[in-house]
Amino acid sequence: MSEELDALILRILTDPAVVPDPYPLYHRLRSEAPVYEVGFGNAVVLSRYDDARAVLRNSTDFGNREDDDAGPNRLVPGAASVQRDRESRSMLFMNPPDHTRLRGLVSRGFTPRRVEALRPHVVELTDELLDAVADEGEVNLVEALAFPLPANVISELVGVPRADRDWLRPLVADLTATLEPNPSEEDVARATASGTKVREYILDLMAERRREPRDDLLSTLISASDDGDRLSEAEVVTMTLLIYAAGFETTTNLIGNMVHTLLDHPDELARVRADRSLVPNTVEEVLRFQPPVQIDGRYTFHDTEVGGHLIRARQSVLTFLGAANRDPAVVDDPDRFDVTRPEIPLLSFGSGIHYCLGASLARLEGQVVLERLLTRFGRWERASETVWKPRLTLRGPGVLPVRFAA
Ligand code: HEM
Repeated sequence: MSEELDALILRILTDPAVVPDPYPLYHRLRSEAPVYEVGFGNAVVLSRYDDARAVLRNSTDFGNREDDDAGPNRLVPGAASVQRDRESRSMLFMNPPDHTRLRGLVSRGFTPRRVEALRPHVVELTDELLDAVADEGEVNLVEALAFPLPANVISELVGVPRADRDWLRPLVADLTATLEPNPSEEDVARATASGTKVREYILDLMAERRREPRDDLLSTLISASDDGDRLSEAEVVTMTLLIYAAGFETTTNLIGNMVHTLLDHPDELARVRADRSLVPNTVEEVLRFQPPVQIDGRYTFHDTEVGGHLIRARQSVLTFLGAANRDPAVVDDPDRFDVTRPEIPLLSFGSGIHYCLGASLARLEGQVVLERLLTRFGRWERASETVWKPRLTLRGPGVLPVRFAA
């Protein structure tokens, strides 16, 4: 333990001034103490790729706390703790066998076929939004595209009427605030109140779908059964809420990070413009370079060795995904953004049993957006500096002023 490193980690976790560029601090941490037990809380912080991946993939020794769902992130002194009762705890915070059962049930309603079938629709929705962008001159890309596109896509997939999304957005943002390292008592109270409203809303929607099922995820979940073991009503609500919330906040950040990063790297933008076969790889490189989720967490069940260090039982383990993705041990020249980089190591979607259920959908949306932006606009310009949301776990631009021209 060292006072200096404790201060460095507290800065990373709590200082909004770090959010625009946390990477130099990650590099310092990785080179000085890649497996670091903090002095101010019962936690270990990992910043190397191999260590983070090993922990995320090891569901025998690492998982989620069963007894108290305070969660792994909330170790900052003075941060409020979040308690979720069993009913409202999503599979993201569960362990096998409960996690296995729920994930199996939802995966059936979330097949590659269902995702691929959305492609023409994603193109159509993107073009609709870009028509407005073309008319506007200068726009905040987050409001014009990065938020509404994934919100509409996930609304369609889940079965949430589009008309309700503007009402739901701030409530969902209240809920995800508790994934940040240092929520306040106020954040937690707001999340609880918003959670109740969203749950009531989903229950009403379920009643509608029971009367009249549609080809959407909510109807599939309602009828889902596993060897006669049906999802309970509370489980359907929690699952719907998880997928809905996970489906747009993160993808909004991916789209915002992508346009921000390409504007910062005009040569790379020119390369992908000249060779569209680079579009999928560009999205992968954006995911590596600017991961939309920066912190993932686990809890240790047993004493376990990671990267040559002992991690004691009953501790939180924070994996810094943005640090892992830029680990020079696995990526050449990791601070270089390179759209032609071969074999991109990536922990941006996690790894192991909680690997992101929506990864293929997020990739699809990122690729369609890039393809359509390149096709429609020959000139991309930053109108003024990006303003980052003051959040590290779910990191992305809040305001991204751009001008596009054909
Ligand atoms: C670029 C966009 C996205 C990123 C970066 C992202 C990232 C992640 C990460 C890091 C995890 C692992 C959490 C853990 O290890 O505890 C995760 C899990 C999850 N993601 Fe995503 N996600 C994205 C988009 C989506 C979308 C579009 C959906 C839904 C349609 C989604 C649904 C989920 C769900 C349900 C889980 C929990 C899986 C489980 O616990 O088994 N995500 N995501």
